[in-house]
Amino acid sequence: MIKELYAEVVGTGSALPPKVVTNVDLERIVDTSDEWIYTRTGIRERHIAEEGEPASKYASIAAERALEDAGVRPEQLDFILVATVTPDTPFPSTSCIVQKKLGAPRAACMDVSAGCSGFIYGLVTADNLIKTGSYKTILVVGVELLSKITDWTDRGTCVLLADGAGAAVLRASEKKTGILGTHLGSDGSLGHLLHMPGGGSLNPATHETIEAKYHYLKMSGNEVFKHAVQVMGDISEKLLDVVGLKREDISLLVPHQANLRIIQATARRLKLPMDKVYVNIDRYGNTSSATIPIALDEINRLGLVKPGDVLLMVAFGAGFTWGVAALEWSKQNTPSS
Ligand code: UT7
Repeated sequence: MIKELYAEVVGTGSALPPKVVTNVDLERIVDTSDEWIYTRTGIRERHIAEEGEPASKYASIAAERALEDAGVRPEQLDFILVATVTPDTPFPSTSCIVQKKLGAPRAACMDVSAGCSGFIYGLVTADNLIKTGSYKTILVVGVELLSKITDWTDRGTCVLLADGAGAAVLRASEKKTGILGTHLGSDGSLGHLLHMPGGGSLNPATHETIEAKYHYLKMSGNEVFKHAVQVMGDISEKLLDVVGLKREDISLLVPHQANLRIIQATARRLKLPMDKVYVNIDRYGNTSSATIPIALDEINRLGLVKPGDVLLMVAFGAGFTWGVAALEWSKQNTPSS
């Protein structure tokens, strides 16, 4: 009989650039205020990388920490998935660069482009690769240096976007634990509401595209907000039904951190009190595909979950894309150093 396999999270890690930029710092750059940013988004400060630093630097540090936490050597990795929309270069993939930095010669490597849902897309891919029995140990990283594609004169986006990386090591288990259920979806017809027009084959870099600011992230914030609130609630409810979980079974909701008001709306929809929702947007802003793995790492190191607890991770982002995963925690926590 073929044994059913499950993917459990056996280690987490994260890495943030040391430089902290506060809302008050941003008041000096654009026409905004600490009060507006905090009340509209929940953000107080964010971490921003230095000039010349690539995404792979923070991805590798987060990955090393996750491997150490898991007690897994880089040579044991079968697969490396890096979710990012700010890769070091269009190619080679950032996952290949991370492979080189870690020294993980056995791993197959692939980047995942799904905007802010990227980590969930990576997790679901890893889960399914493990379920087939082809791969046992997979590293999933979410990394973003959004500051590199931020228009620092656009107050509608520059107060939100930030840099960071988070990682998780997944391992095959014969026990029914780890990832219990997932759902992914997309709507490409709404891509224009959150996009970067330049840098690809449509608008390769020219003096004109640079002058037109095509190499910066553009967002219709209000439209994205409305879709995010609707979809994150819908897919969370749907997944609970499919997996046969009740709201009371959720120990912690770990939502993508784009806006505190989106997070609160999702919690209200699921009838979860805010003490069952992990929030760190105040300290890190929106790091896109990195928000959920950074949160996971904090939850692990702060000992906020114990084996048997169920986490519901949900995200929405560019594409549009969305994803949700229910995870039964199975590892002993890692005390923070
Ligand atoms: O990560 C996945 C995708 N991203 C998201 O999920 C982000 C979703 N969107 C949002 O979080 C919110 O829409 C924003 C935080 C971007 C904006 O909040 P909002 O409540 O939707 O504001 P708004 O865009 O409707 O703008 C309200 C007002 C406008 O002024 P008027 O036209 O009412 O005079 C804006 O010009 O706020 C103004 N505004 C600002 N004022 C001070 C926009 N940005 C700023 C700012 N400081 N930074």
